[in-house]
Amino acid sequence: MSKDAYTLTNADGSSSMELPVHKGTVGPDVLDIGSLYREQGVFTYDPGFVATGSCSSAITYIDGVKGVLMYRGYPVEQLAAHSNFLEVAFLLLYGELPTASQLEDFNESINRHTMLNEGMLRFFNGFRYDAHPMAMLSAVVGSMSAYYHDTMDINNPEARKVFAHRILAKLPTIAAAALKLNAGQPFIYPRNDLSYTENLLHMFFAVPAEPYEINKIAAQALDLLFILHADHEQNCSTSTVRMAGSSGANPYSAIAAGISALWGPAHGGANEAVLRMLEQIGEAKNIPRFVDKAKDRDDPFRLMGFGHRVYKNFDPRATIIREMCHKVLKQMGRTNSPLFDLALELEQVALKDEYFIEKNLYPNVDFYSGIIYRALGIPTSMFTVMFAIGRTVGWVAHWKEMITDPGGKISRPRQLYTGPPQRDYVPVDQRS
Ligand code: SDX
Repeated sequence: MSKDAYTLTNADGSSSMELPVHKGTVGPDVLDIGSLYREQGVFTYDPGFVATGSCSSAITYIDGVKGVLMYRGYPVEQLAAHSNFLEVAFLLLYGELPTASQLEDFNESINRHTMLNEGMLRFFNGFRYDAHPMAMLSAVVGSMSAYYHDTMDINNPEARKVFAHRILAKLPTIAAAALKLNAGQPFIYPRNDLSYTENLLHMFFAVPAEPYEINKIAAQALDLLFILHADHEQNCSTSTVRMAGSSGANPYSAIAAGISALWGPAHGGANEAVLRMLEQIGEAKNIPRFVDKAKDRDDPFRLMGFGHRVYKNFDPRATIIREMCHKVLKQMGRTNSPLFDLALELEQVALKDEYFIEKNLYPNVDFYSGIIYRALGIPTSMFTVMFAIGRTVGWVAHWKEMITDPGGKISRPRQLYTGPPQRDYVPVDQRS
């Protein structure tokens, strides 16, 4: 067998074929099954795509055993320690860390795209006061294709660039408009003299009645959280963006599809679900009962913020965020945080439990992030919106990589059919 191929032979040995192997920079090789159906008349079968590579990508690498996460080759720990979110966004979009002048131009471009078309703002007059912010976010982002017609040509590099900068810049503004609707407060326009996260805090929490002083610690904490959420390989929402974009749909619609996928509690919706779970647990004496519920196969309850498709030990982001929790709570003068104490206790109980050890269930990125958002005064219903703000640059980077792939084609998986064999139509008066 060639070292660069696997030989596939059927059960009775009557037929075999070579499956070429492709090697990446690092990580598992992949078997190319592109000719399998044509030559053998069979499909592969991998519900949930547990062991299926959907594409080749140069953006992010994860090693689930070693707990490694790299953006364009840079370990996330180094970026978290030395970089900032817009510099990481440039890296993800363009593949290299920016020079000082490139970063200045990028910051300037993002700053100048933060305002929304006034017609889009009027959408918020139509939502119920208690509409979920993720419902508003996916709706308004999808509506951008009804406004920004100059960036709908996916084959135009300049249009793709303006789209990328525009959506990165406008997500916080749309998020702020949703928060203000829920709060019953007037919308606060963005300010170009503020940094990305300072602007977000200002739009979230400023009110016309009095001056608002930006908390620099909060701005730094959000910047770090956005770095940690920026990308994560072929996760559910990123794969959704790639799938939607592969049909040639406009990029705003592809991102809106990603936002909808992220909302699920098995994915980005988990950060909101963690806080609601901690509030449901209430106090440490109730932890064993909830851990038992999570272990009960007949009970749909799962320990939110635990487990991961790829990480089979600590999620490196959870480790950084847990350490951040201590620092942010202390700097915010919130050293007494029953929720954080409860989360730490729950983590200890779960990590010592045979079930969680056997199934390699560890805290993931969503387990601690909500505690920081809560400490910053961000409403629980906004937590997944915060995830979406960080992840948008990853979605855009993957959309761009997919749409500029010369070998790209529409994503269209096959299936194993388990429905009825062919049968003839029966007129309604002859049906029993
Ligand atoms: C994110 O993919 C990404 O990269 C996602 C993400 C990103 O940055 O984009 O990292 C962000 O989505 C993080 C995950 C947030 N979701 C949660 O915290 C929700 C709780 N977690 C589970 O729903 C689950 O762990 C998943 C969805 C995260 C992973 O599911 P998998 O890989 O499909 O694993 P599985 O459901 O097959 O679970 C394997 C076993 C099962 O038991 P058995 O059927 O083998 O008996 O572990 C059990 C599960 O029942 N299990 C859990 C559990 N997670 C898995 N049991 C209790 N509590 C849990 N949290």
